Amino acid sequence: MDTTHPTNNRALPHIDERPFGVTKGGKKVSEFILTNSTGMRIGILTLGGILRTIEVPDRAGRNADIALGFDSLTSYEERHPYFGTITGRFANRIAKGAFSLDGQTYTLATNNGPNHLHGGLKGFDRAIWSGKTETTPTFARVSLIHVSPDMDEGYPGEVNTEVTYTLTNDNEIWIAYRATTTKPTPINLTNHTYFNLSGDASRDIKDHLLEIDAEEIVPVDETSIPTGSLMPVKNTPFDFRKPRPLGERINDVGIGYDHTYVLSSGTRELSFAARLVDPKSGRVLVVLTTEPGVQLYTGNYLNGTFKGKGGVSYEKHAGLCLETQHFPDSVNQPSFPSTILRPGEVYAQTTVYRFGIER
Ligand code: BGC
Repeated sequence: MDTTHPTNNRALPHIDERPFGVTKGGKKVSEFILTNSTGMRIGILTLGGILRTIEVPDRAGRNADIALGFDSLTSYEERHPYFGTITGRFANRIAKGAFSLDGQTYTLATNNGPNHLHGGLKGFDRAIWSGKTETTPTFARVSLIHVSPDMDEGYPGEVNTEVTYTLTNDNEIWIAYRATTTKPTPINLTNHTYFNLSGDASRDIKDHLLEIDAEEIVPVDETSIPTGSLMPVKNTPFDFRKPRPLGERINDVGIGYDHTYVLSSGTRELSFAARLVDPKSGRVLVVLTTEPGVQLYTGNYLNGTFKGKGGVSYEKHAGLCLETQHFPDSVNQPSFPSTILRPGEVYAQTTVYRFGIER
């Protein structure tokens, strides 16, 4: 008998790699499918480091895929609103696509009205990352590496980035980001997964209960650039300090939530950020992070034009993002926590998506 394996009948974590297609430019894209000992499964693409599928059980033990995305590579090659992507070099907006650093002015693409969004025209979400895998009795892991050359999308410095996705046997996805640079440069990385815990993206997320550990948000102007001050959530539709249905006051904030919450933890330690519950399926998502903020985006611009997995049309509010990150436009906002990485330093951020059920 082989005594190196557990004697119970739980399977060991494992990883399958499958070809996902070839890009128009002739580059091969793979998908890594990570399975843990309880049967939770996630799929990660080398294109954009996309977290393509997240299959987790409901309270009856039935797995469903709770992430929005596509079935085919061609759909991911078209413009799409960052379904599941690693977003960088700078997640969120930089006002007018410009910033100064050490006396030098840098100009970036303006790809969101007058502003720069999510790293520009060919951000980290469009890169093909190289992947390597590791499995142990307690987790399955994929490490993705991408080297962004000096002046890529107008940003200074060659930036070496490693993002590891770890699926534990406790149904947690750990996303650890690390980056180094050859010149001072801004960096702000996140993952842009759209969640719909019902597993049925033809339903919207307005009945999901949301809690965010934040007393303040970052108010923005009509182009979504911070005004520079912070605003208390108390007595406003932004208050999620206690769990509340997302839809309860969503109509009071225009087309929906698209705002950065200032997390109360105020430390760089991994801390509680948010909790999301789908009362119907019982699925629960807890988000922990080392970041100072989380952008709540409720899929306000989805309008049925994207045909997602299984041919489902993604309508307004079909999913929501909880993007852990620094505050928008930090490079132009001296009072915000710094996003500048200098040679010799290591950028590090860790975020955990912990899945569970509520009876
Ligand atoms: C932004 C939204 C944007 C979406 C898709 C979010 O992070 O806050 O304004 O529409 O990404 O690009």
